[in-house]
Amino acid sequence: MTSLAPIPYIDKFAFYKKLSNELNELCESAWFTNMANVSALLMAQLPQVSWVGFYLAVDETLRLGPFQGLPADRRIPSGKGVCGTAAQMKKTLIVGDIDQFPGHIACDTRSRSEIAVPLIKDDRLIGILDVDSMELDRFDEDDKLGLQLLMNELLARTEIPATFA
Ligand code: SME
Repeated sequence: MTSLAPIPYIDKFAFYKKLSNELNELCESAWFTNMANVSALLMAQLPQVSWVGFYLAVDETLRLGPFQGLPADRRIPSGKGVCGTAAQMKKTLIVGDIDQFPGHIACDTRSRSEIAVPLIKDDRLIGILDVDSMELDRFDEDDKLGLQLLMNELLARTEIPATFA
């Protein structure tokens, strides 16, 4: 089991590389185990984040999966909010100021910025990794690349069922 000693966040390339090593230690084949542990890992290691978790794609809806933080919306339709928009576009969205994102879904009114990273395997949308912060402009392109790398590794290590329903 990981000691979860803090990893320095100054050199983000090195930070995400070390996190990917930790992720590989924590993963097995089951999606629920891996997503639960990756949520906990990111919540413990990413500075200034208030919510980390997964939404799983079921038909045209995102359903709340393993997460760390306050209780959150259980279902987000495709195209709605930051997560639903990232799901529809199959692209990572960085929102520096959630007040400037029309249709943002406020699970925690203290959130100020957010990043939503789609998990895509063989062109299929598996779900979304969502990370919230109470700081404005918390996430940048390095976080985007680092989190995308981690999600690709998570997918490579995980058996994905035909459906999450
Ligand atoms: N803010 C997200 C909803 C999920 S919560 O932040 C956990 C959105 O707009 O999709």
